Amino acid sequence: MGRQYQYIQLANKLEKDIVSGRYRAGEKLPSLRKLHAESGRSISTINQAYMELEHRGMIEVREKSGFYARPQLRGLVQAPTLGSGPIKPHKVAINTLADMIQLAISREMLPFGAAVPSPALLPHKQLASCMRTVTSHYQKGRKLGYGHPTGEPELQRRIARRIPGLVNSPPNEEIIITNGCMQAIDLCLRTVARPGDIILVESPTFLCYLQLIEDLNMRVLEVPVDSRHGIDPDRIGKILEEHDVRAALFNPNFHNPLGYAMDNEAKKRLVQVMNDQGVPIIEDDIYGDLYFGDVRPTPLKAYDQRGMVLYCSSFSKTLIPDLRVGWTMPGIFREKVKRLKFNISIASSQFNQLVVAEFLAGGAFARHLRKMRNSLKKQTTDTALAVSRYFPQGTKISVPEGGYTLWVELGRTIDSLKLWSRAAKRNISIFPGALCSGSNQYSHYIRLSCGHPFTEKLEQGIAELGRLVGEMDRPSLAGPLPAHQTREIRIGLNSDPEGLQAEQLCSCIYRMAPGYSISINQTISGNVLKLLASRELEGGFIHGDCPESGFAKIHLTTRRLCVVGPVTLKERIKTGSKEEIAALPWIGNPLECPYCQVMKEQFHDLGLFPNIILRADQDNAISAMIRAGVGLNFMLEEDARAAEREGKLVIWDRESYPLPLSFVTLRSRREDIRVKILLEAVQKIWK
Ligand SMILES: Cc1ncc(COP(=O)(O)O)c(C=O)c1O
Repeated sequence: MGRQYQYIQLANKLEKDIVSGRYRAGEKLPSLRKLHAESGRSISTINQAYMELEHRGMIEVREKSGFYARPQLRGLVQAPTLGSGPIKPHKVAINTLADMIQLAISREMLPFGAAVPSPALLPHKQLASCMRTVTSHYQKGRKLGYGHPTGEPELQRRIARRIPGLVNSPPNEEIIITNGCMQAIDLCLRTVARPGDIILVESPTFLCYLQLIEDLNMRVLEVPVDSRHGIDPDRIGKILEEHDVRAALFNPNFHNPLGYAMDNEAKKRLVQVMNDQGVPIIEDDIYGDLYFGDVRPTPLKAYDQRGMVLYCSSFSKTLIPDLRVGWTMPGIFREKVKRLKFNISIASSQFNQLVVAEFLAGGAFARHLRKMRNSLKKQTTDTALAVSRYFPQGTKISVPEGGYTLWVELGRTIDSLKLWSRAAKRNISIFPGALCSGSNQYSHYIRLSCGHPFTEKLEQGIAELGRLVGEMDRPSLAGPLPAHQTREIRIGLNSDPEGLQAEQLCSCIYRMAPGYSISINQTISGNVLKLLASRELEGGFIHGDCPESGFAKIHLTTRRLCVVGPVTLKERIKTGSKEEIAALPWIGNPLECPYCQVMKEQFHDLGLFPNIILRADQDNAISAMIRAGVGLNFMLEEDARAAEREGKLVIWDRESYPLPLSFVTLRSRREDIRVKILLEAVQKIWK
């Protein structure tokens, strides 16, 4: 047992004492001398153990004073609640929104968005040295052709030895090297499933899975999982009986975004349940080496008796994302994965593979990982503590056991896409929870990445985010709704969530007409009409949450409906079936208007899949619509009448759509007068 092992052993013991509450937050730990006298360990071992604890974020070292326990997340923060969406298979349409979010991320932003390691955590000098070594092969003229289609044997051998929990290291040929973990998952998914098939995923889940499932035209079945324990195997058993699931795509070790690691018993049971039903599992173990506890968790693959787990991972989170070195061990599906891999890329870069193999050859990787785990653990704790300090009371935070991400549940009225947009304007990137589901389930959650050292600048970023959340979380000024409340006003606004001041409008209108309940609705153009046509929506738009819980939601029978559409589409809009109407292209800013996602969802439930979204954010929606010659919109009446006079639009009055409905639409940029216009419009409706 070496010296290093002793200090780690001591650090682990002290950590357990802190976690168990033997030393409470702020309490002083024994001095070096005291521990030396008590344990007989050398002062330098004890000192190293304390340094280790400091790197893990477990203690604070106060100069000339000693070592103090830091607060622990567990017990301090409340766990986020489980997703509650219905468990049914659906198509995914998330790429457009995801593209926009990703486009808007820049390197200058405070990096809470992407789950990537800070360059400061990566062993750049050793990697550069490995690159120089590999370059020498090229100087000697070797390695100039294509590499082996399934990967460099040297790297395969090293990877095979690293997969934990397997009784024997698998032979090299079991491992297929890929360009990153996502390529491994892509190959596996295409191997085991076809367009239209149902793929089971944890909910919330990792955005790229959803994007891939959308691209492959498969359907997803999102199963809510517990933020601490992960997937419930018994629940999966029932789901498999009810649905024709073709494959599962799970991330059971330090799940992105929740950060849990399932316990071994649950993993074993899960594999058994899936094996029994003959359903393959694609396992993403990319974060498995980044544990905050004592031991690396075993993957599902370790319990796989039938070769039905297609294991996938990469070095993107642990060593360097840019080399794009990943791998899969696809069990009985190997031949097909191998063929697909060859067909799409012939081979992966030998250079990149050899650099990684060179790095893995010595003990450098184990040392690097130990350091990296400590840094991630500390960064995660620091970020979570800052969130608990700066965010409004009631904010719920996950307590990850490894990996990079924190999952934060905000007040119900907070829209993570709006928060994302406001934060981006302040140069802070975050990841909206809405992107962790294909069924709009996590609109008031965000994911924060903890991949960067938690500097003062990052703390200020969290403080600023907390302030934004606080601003958006203010309760309505209006008093509670009387019990006899019977009527509701639903108001549709064109998308400009920043300036709408919905609460203010609600309370103004409520004071004017206390007998009514009000919900403010945001819309994007004609998508709403599609919902009306399909009779999924009655009496208004999908309503944005009105923060006043006292506002009951009851229909108001309104006086008139003004539906506007391009002349060319007159007949289709007026008399078309719901399928025809659903087939019209969509116009709008899904990013600005998250309800777009909800609307799509409703269509998906009807078995209709509108999938074209024209962005209207460079221009106002109506002119985008006119230029495109498609779609529908709701707008200020006088504008609609003017466009009608010019022959650009047609307007139908209520009798075409005998629904109890009222829409008042404001153009987004009339900031000063919008409240006035809205009030006038509402009064007009009441006349
Ligand atoms: C769960 C998960 N799987 C896969 C990836 C992507 O891996 P790679 O870069 O190796 O393709 C990520 C990156 O964020 C991830 O979080």
